[in-house]
Amino acid sequence: MRIPMVIANWKMYKTVSEAVDFFNRFSNEVEDISGVETVICPPFVSLADLSRLLTNTSLILGAQNMHWEKEGAYTGEISPLMLRELGVKYVIIGHSERRNFFGESDRVVRKKVESAFAYGLFPILCIGENWEQFNNGETQQVLKEQLFSALEELNPGREMMSRLVVAYEPVWAIGTGTPATGEAASKVAGYIRELLRKLWGEAAEEIRILYGGSVNPGNILEFTGKPDIDGALIGGSSLKEKLLAEMARAVFHERRG
Ligand code: PGA
Repeated sequence: MRIPMVIANWKMYKTVSEAVDFFNRFSNEVEDISGVETVICPPFVSLADLSRLLTNTSLILGAQNMHWEKEGAYTGEISPLMLRELGVKYVIIGHSERRNFFGESDRVVRKKVESAFAYGLFPILCIGENWEQFNNGETQQVLKEQLFSALEELNPGREMMSRLVVAYEPVWAIGTGTPATGEAASKVAGYIRELLRKLWGEAAEEIRILYGGSVNPGNILEFTGKPDIDGALIGGSSLKEKLLAEMARAVFHERRG
């Protein structure tokens, strides 16, 4: 069974004290929620404090990026080992903002996914087409290229494969207030699962596929209600504890039926 996920990607928002304040208000809101993995991905500087605060709660810690090496002369980078020590479980890899603003190539994304597996982290691999590609009907081709280049040469074993999370995030939907429709996202998620079957066979059934891009409390169930969509990766709307709690609660009630 694929456990649904609600992931908060805070991007470069919230200082450490703001992150701690958020947690103090948020944890009460979601105390009674089970069967949904709620993952908080703050900026690196808040990981240590949140790690301590999340102990004994059901909330899970994620990072927004990492380097692929264990250590080395890479000024400004953070290694998988450093994340592990802080109790980080998930790591977002290949977010379109990393690809577009920081030149992260498919090759780098592949190295990072491989490294996440090697160091026992659960990679959240982001893929998605831009507006031009969407309009040219190239969505499937783009997703196939991104997914295959990240995973094709990897054979991490069945247990590791099931740790992978794939987030479908159309670039044109991120931060724009214009999400994909539930129908369209659902078709794409089905297509991604087909690709995963081609790559990794039966393990594909265990891999969670998320939708991301302008998700909010008003539309989250339009996505998570679809058979191949196992949750949401949320930016803007995850910054307010009330909204994030509302979304986690909505998915919790939906899955409970
Ligand atoms: P958004 O961001 O929810 O603000 O559109 C999603 C993301 O970038 O992961």
